Amino acid sequence: MSLLEQLIETHTGKTTDKWSLYVREYARLFEPYRDQPICLLEIGVQNGGSLEVWSDYFAQARVLVGCDIDEGCRNLTYADSRVHVVVGDASTVETRDQILSISATFDIIIDDGSHTASDIVKSFALYFERLSEGGLYIVEDLHCSYWQNYQGGLHNPLSSIHFFKSLCDIVNHQSWGLPMSRRELLTEFSKQDIAEFSEDLLAQIHSVEFLNSICVVRKAAAPNNTLGPRIVRGQEAFVDVGPLGLDGQDLVAPLQCMPDLAAPLNAEPLLFDEDFYLSNYPDVAAAGVNAFAHYLGNGKSEGRHPTADRAALAALQEAKVWGREQAAVLAGIAEFVADNGDALTQAIEASQKQLEFWHLQHAARFDQLTQMSVEQEDREVQRLDKLELNLVGMRAELTDKLSELLMAQSLELAGSFEASQSKLVGGQAEHAVQIAFLKNEQAKQAEQAQRQYESLHGEFIALKTSFIQINAAYWDAKQTYEACVAELREELEAERVRLAWRSAHPLKAFWRDLFSRKTAGVDA
Ligand SMILES: C[S@@+](CC[C@H](N)C(=O)[O-])C[C@H]1O[C@@H](n2cnc3c(N)ncnc32)[C@H](O)[C@@H]1O
Repeated sequence: MSLLEQLIETHTGKTTDKWSLYVREYARLFEPYRDQPICLLEIGVQNGGSLEVWSDYFAQARVLVGCDIDEGCRNLTYADSRVHVVVGDASTVETRDQILSISATFDIIIDDGSHTASDIVKSFALYFERLSEGGLYIVEDLHCSYWQNYQGGLHNPLSSIHFFKSLCDIVNHQSWGLPMSRRELLTEFSKQDIAEFSEDLLAQIHSVEFLNSICVVRKAAAPNNTLGPRIVRGQEAFVDVGPLGLDGQDLVAPLQCMPDLAAPLNAEPLLFDEDFYLSNYPDVAAAGVNAFAHYLGNGKSEGRHPTADRAALAALQEAKVWGREQAAVLAGIAEFVADNGDALTQAIEASQKQLEFWHLQHAARFDQLTQMSVEQEDREVQRLDKLELNLVGMRAELTDKLSELLMAQSLELAGSFEASQSKLVGGQAEHAVQIAFLKNEQAKQAEQAQRQYESLHGEFIALKTSFIQINAAYWDAKQTYEACVAELREELEAERVRLAWRSAHPLKAFWRDLFSRKTAGVDA
């Protein structure tokens, strides 16, 4: 028993609900991712048990995100912080953005959500883009794709299983032999406003694996999804020489007639009257399924009418009769082939023999051509040898001519070099005389200038000495003048006091004068 089977078998806690086959296959598919730091997304959480199992199984996982439309899932809590639950409709851009805010890419995506065709296709369009290279996109419970309550039904062109069957064709796009892109194969899903796919994204579908009720789509970079060049090794081809010479070639698909892919969908919608269908078949209306999808998947084979329009019904009847006639023609052809099988086989064998004979004939011709080409090659080699000899001769001749030319030129150059050298020497002597004369002149002028400087300097010193003397005399005179001025000022002041006193007291002055004369022995 694998580890995953053991984990699920012994799981306690939150409930999980998986079919035995899934667990066995998941053990195989998930083994390479078990010890990797992966990110996992599961659409459809319900009771939350599967997220617990994934957290035990992927011990090194970075993030485990579950998404469920049921509000009840908000109450789910996990001890493992790597587990996140987003509540919302996984097939909407809003919910996708919430999921991507937790992890921008995922290595494993499991769609165990509504199991309804349009939700499955929408989710594939939203999340396959975010699957990492080498990642797995798994859709569970595809048994629902055969049931009308899930927009399904055997050969219903809009069922989820039909969508994944188309992805098988997309993987083999290289071999279609049709001028048609991958996305054109899914036009019906875009016309019905279910989902749009880009060519680049579809080119990254590496493989589509179907098991009972599950589909596993593996992603790889587009260049890894082509056949690549053919590899033919070994030289012996006694049975069939066909592969020889095909090594390294790419597949070239022969051009095919364009199939009318939309024929069942194009013819029927012209007749299909949704209002009529839903009112005429209340069980379909009650199931709330897409009426047209129901008609294609179930109603048609159950003999239900697509419209009340008699003319349209008659046309449909006519088409059915025509279809039966064509089937009869085909049956006739098949019968013819069965009856004439031996003759046909003989004819085929005869043409095969003829082909082999033709091949032998051509093989001989090929040998002949090979022989011819060997002879031609010899002739070519001889011609080339001759040419080479000629070339060697021409080269020697040219080399001689060139050295002669060089010699003549170098002699001429030497003559002109000598002439210019003697001119240079003459010029040099002339310049030396001129330089000596100029130097002499310069020395004379320098001497004269020195003499002039010295006499001027003597004059300057004499002037400076007389200036110092005059300055000293000036200071002496200034001091004498200032002393005289001070003395005169004093005398003037004394005279002024005397005069003032006399004019104020003339008698007093007279007597004092007299007294002082007397005292001095002078008669008045
Ligand atoms: C089968 S259960 C999931 C079981 C779970 N994966 C497990 O293994 O135990 C399906 C769940 O998908 C949820 N569901 C239905 N439609 C949905 C949608 N559009 N988006 C997200 N979840 C959806 C349902 O609410 C339901 O809980």
